[in-house]
Amino acid sequence: MSSGIFDVNEYSITIEEAANTVKAKLLKYEQLRKPRVMIICGSGLGGIVNILQEPRIELRYEEIPGFKSSTVSGHAGKLVFGLIGDNKVPVMCMVGRLHFYEGYTFQETTFPIRLAKAIDIETVVVTNAAGGVNSDFKVGDLMLINDHINFPGFAGFNALRGPNLVEYGPRFLPLSDAYDFDLRRLFFKSKKKLGIDRTVHEGVYFFAAGPTYESRAEVRMIRTLGGDAVGMSTVPEVVVARHSQLKVLALSLITNVGVGEKPPSALDESPVRLDEGMANHEEVLEAANEASKDVQKIFEATINQL
Ligand code: HPA
Repeated sequence: MSSGIFDVNEYSITIEEAANTVKAKLLKYEQLRKPRVMIICGSGLGGIVNILQEPRIELRYEEIPGFKSSTVSGHAGKLVFGLIGDNKVPVMCMVGRLHFYEGYTFQETTFPIRLAKAIDIETVVVTNAAGGVNSDFKVGDLMLINDHINFPGFAGFNALRGPNLVEYGPRFLPLSDAYDFDLRRLFFKSKKKLGIDRTVHEGVYFFAAGPTYESRAEVRMIRTLGGDAVGMSTVPEVVVARHSQLKVLALSLITNVGVGEKPPSALDESPVRLDEGMANHEEVLEAANEASKDVQKIFEATINQL
């Protein structure tokens, strides 16, 4: 069973070892030595790494104690360190994230966040691909997360289940303001200043453990419960980031819209077949690619001011 009792001392020692590995790698690069921002690249958003300027160095997950490799679509995953914007803000970019549905425990999927804290990073920028549940949302829209529903958490699958890491944060963590107001504001200001007209909503991210996509009835349930977008990541990372007193900015790219209409009835002799299932895959990839370019520009301008 995931995230039950684990050896908290061993876990803390491994975090230290990972931090030492990263620090040793960065030692030669004066400007990179103290990364201030961590960026987690979601599906279709790996291009964010392109905004990192030289010196740019990489560490593969296998080189870092405690890191698991992503099992999704073959790429093992790496940390990329570099600089952002005219102000040369040092950042650590995580390309290839770990998901609960891959079978990892929450201690494993959120290990990179603990590492970020251990090397004194202050802010985490989390991105993901998500399904639109709010009927106003279109493929290619963005949503800045201003709150979440940790659905697996209600059944006990909370990233903080198990012994508390007291040196990081409290046993009972408040989450009413997890998504930093000032960072969200800065994001919107940067977007406006750049004159980018892509739709950016603010809304509630509904964490579903996956790996299946939602049924029609589940889409309706999520809508009723107040979710605006649904995805299989982010919330465990945000919970652990907040437990580690890191500031959080989180962004969803809407790659498809959830289908909530009831299926045609077999009782009906001439049923009207619904043909508006999942969006066409090519369109989704295209939308992700286009949106990703806007995200890169807005992030560059936002992170430059941190
Ligand atoms: N549901 C869950 N996760 C997702 C989706 C979705 O529709 N789209 C991208 N990630």
